[in-house]
Amino acid sequence: SKLEMFVDELPDMPRVRGFNIQNGVPVSKSITIGMFQKKWKFHRDLPATTVFAFGTSKKVATVPGPTIEALHGVETYVTWQNHLPSQHILPWDPTIPTARPKMGVPTVVHLHGGIDEPESDGYAKSWFTAGFKERGPTWTKKTYRYHNTQHPGNMWYHDHTMGLTRENILAGLIGAYILRHPPVEAPLRVPYGDEFDRPLIVFDRSFYTNGTIYMNSTGHTPSIHPQWHPEYFGNVIVVNGKAWPRMTVRRMKYQFRIINASNSRFFRFFFTNGMRFIHVGSDSAYLARPVRTKKLLLAPSEIAHVIVDFSKSTSDMVILANGAAYPYPSGDPTNDINGKVMRFEINGQHEVDTTRVPPRLMKYPSPDISSASTTRYISMYEYMTPMAMDMPSVLYLNGKSFDDPVTEMPRAGTTEIWNVINLTGDNHPLHIHLGLITALEQTKLVELEEFKECMMMKNDAIECQVSKYARGKRKPVPAHERGWKNVFKMRPGYVTKILVRFSFIHSNASYPFDATAEPGYVYHCHILDHEDNAMMRPLKLIS
Ligand code: C2O
Ligand code: CU
Repeated sequence: SKLEMFVDELPDMPRVRGFNIQNGVPVSKSITIGMFQKKWKFHRDLPATTVFAFGTSKKVATVPGPTIEALHGVETYVTWQNHLPSQHILPWDPTIPTARPKMGVPTVVHLHGGIDEPESDGYAKSWFTAGFKERGPTWTKKTYRYHNTQHPGNMWYHDHTMGLTRENILAGLIGAYILRHPPVEAPLRVPYGDEFDRPLIVFDRSFYTNGTIYMNSTGHTPSIHPQWHPEYFGNVIVVNGKAWPRMTVRRMKYQFRIINASNSRFFRFFFTNGMRFIHVGSDSAYLARPVRTKKLLLAPSEIAHVIVDFSKSTSDMVILANGAAYPYPSGDPTNDINGKVMRFEINGQHEVDTTRVPPRLMKYPSPDISSASTTRYISMYEYMTPMAMDMPSVLYLNGKSFDDPVTEMPRAGTTEIWNVINLTGDNHPLHIHLGLITALEQTKLVELEEFKECMMMKNDAIECQVSKYARGKRKPVPAHERGWKNVFKMRPGYVTKILVRFSFIHSNASYPFDATAEPGYVYHCHILDHEDNAMMRPLKLIS
């Protein structure tokens, strides 16, 4: 593709309020958001693409969908409606565990980073087709309830259908969700308002010249999986639904909520003029204090909440670039095409800017290892097939498929230690629904092959004496990732020790819902092609 870069203006997706104001008081609100098949222009010179788009109506549906703005302490009810046709627009694979309605495209929506009841969490088997005509085995209700009792910050909503998440998200089923808490956020005096506070939803896609989304329809190991590939990489970088857009900015501070909505691509963002990112939050939570970096590595599904100060720019134009190899970390290096993301054009004179970078952000309890009630070992494997020894045919957590009996059953209100053992060659972003993660340490495994052999046979980290092998070099957790996160990047060949909190971080209140209800939750790798086959396991809370 020879699409000219920086020709389309960066869109701001439609904003939908998740609350009403009654007599000056915010009260809860019910909204309906549909999923529609429609045409979307990704670039001035690319014919319109058939997509699946979220919107309050088909006419206003967009890719990404509307940004939902909710208020702390005020519930938002969303009825997610499926208006999709009988056939998927992308090839899919019947040999991986997949939702199989008789007709139609199954979908189910998860609020990523949300602390919500299981019935509203978008369990992979709670899918439904157009008009709720067919429903998956764990489907419970049409209207999801978002409590919004958690700390303020950034989330995103996306499809989570069993075996089809990679297709449905590629087709466009994503959107941002911001939870605000003005009494605690306003005193920070960071850049605010629709002009200066912008979500940037970034992903990669490939297109045919007629505009159709390209997804390889012949699998890498077709005798096993006729369509599935271990990773999807597109050669066009898209921000807020436009390929390599441009944004005109003033010489002032902006707040960006950068969401990596790619299937598999990591981004290592940097500014070509050396400007810095001032991190104020990581995933859904604020950091304790701002952290300045020149580079920003974001795995699929991670969210970087940053301030960028364009008054510090030494040039009138700056490109937001990408330097992450794909697959990460040891795949192909970036090139001139996928190494560029968007361009900022800095306009006008210096202006008075009354916003600031506050010295302190939010004070949440720091991780307390002694409070952990349980220690678990979670290992990441890939299984090859004799026909193609270099390609994984299935990726597992603890050697188990999604349908094996539940093994992770934390008690609501507790904190646990999870040692995540990555035996593969790739970095996997691990996401735990409901839980909040703080990474503690990352230790390299020595004599990896020997340990791996034992693990492949016994599937048991303790029996295989993981502590004997986990004595290599240690990697510190980057300062801007030391807060409470929803996802953490699991380094290949390392054991990553994380603290997982199954409670709120801003209060000791217990969940305002029954977290032990059916169908429970899930945890998984957020490389969608891995999640679908089948790097995902059930997570069931107990009381
Ligand atoms: Cu972002 Cu289980 O999902
Ligand atoms: Cu993975």
